[in-house]
Amino acid sequence: MTFSYEKVLIIGATSGIGKALATKLVQNGTKVIISGRRKENLETFIQDNGSDKVQAKPFDITQLDQINKFASDVIAENPDLDCIFVNAGIQRPFDFSKTDTVDLDILDQELVINYTAPVRIAKAFIPHLQRQEKQTALAFTTSQLAIIPMLRCPNYGASKAALHHFIITLRTQMQNGPGNVKVLEILPPAEFMDDAWAQINAGDEQIAVGSAKDIVDAVEPKRNELYQHMTQMLTGLIKQFLK
Ligand SMILES: NC(=O)c1ccc[n+]([C@@H]2O[C@H](COP(=O)([O-])OP(=O)(O)OC[C@H]3O[C@@H](n4cnc5c(N)ncnc54)[C@H](OP(=O)(O)O)[C@@H]3O)[C@@H](O)[C@H]2O)c1
Repeated sequence: MTFSYEKVLIIGATSGIGKALATKLVQNGTKVIISGRRKENLETFIQDNGSDKVQAKPFDITQLDQINKFASDVIAENPDLDCIFVNAGIQRPFDFSKTDTVDLDILDQELVINYTAPVRIAKAFIPHLQRQEKQTALAFTTSQLAIIPMLRCPNYGASKAALHHFIITLRTQMQNGPGNVKVLEILPPAEFMDDAWAQINAGDEQIAVGSAKDIVDAVEPKRNELYQHMTQMLTGLIKQFLK
């Protein structure tokens, strides 16, 4: 199995994991649309990789009221877009034992970037993905800290845990169509690209790498089992009520 998508929008591609993924995709022959706030990084990436393979679409995802316009502009310019990768994220430390050090505006911004905006981006792009004749994908970067919290960044883990829960249900909601939208989740530690790429190409939907893999393997099979059981039970109950 090989990576089957033709054009990928990567939101959060100006550095780190998103930039590494964009590089990997271009090397694979996949067209990419790269996004993020730092225009100079987007432009450098195009210079290094060629404007025939890469487009840039600068955007700040905290501009929640502009997300629909961002999506409709990207879709109008790229009707062949078949994969959206929501990778943007920030991590900020907070110590609630010293409340005077806790800046709630920064906390709210972290929650918006890591959770609220990704959910709104999903809503904005799903209709386009559902309309495609072929398999499409909506992918998110969460973290092993979505499953096991880290002491210094309580809000980061909580925001990624929220996104992780959202992804689990979104995947189930997409299963029966319309369209054929795969929902992917990448849970990376820092050293991740080659292993993640192998798992993406193997068709995996929950892609955990390195130390994240041990954590996911320890917790997620049981969570998935309980989730499937509860979903079946509740679906049965709802059917009975609707009779
Ligand atoms: N590195 C790790 O060890 C690790 C582990 C687990 C999970 N993660 C997750 O992996 C993802 C990428 O992280 P990274 O380590 O590669 O960090 P990074 O180099 O700081 O990349 C973060 C990306 O998010 C973008 N971003 C941040 N705020 C944004 C905003 N308001 N609007 C649009 N884009 C925004 C940044 O672009 P601009 O600054 O140009 O806007 C940048 O492209 C994040 O979701 C992170 O939580 C990372």
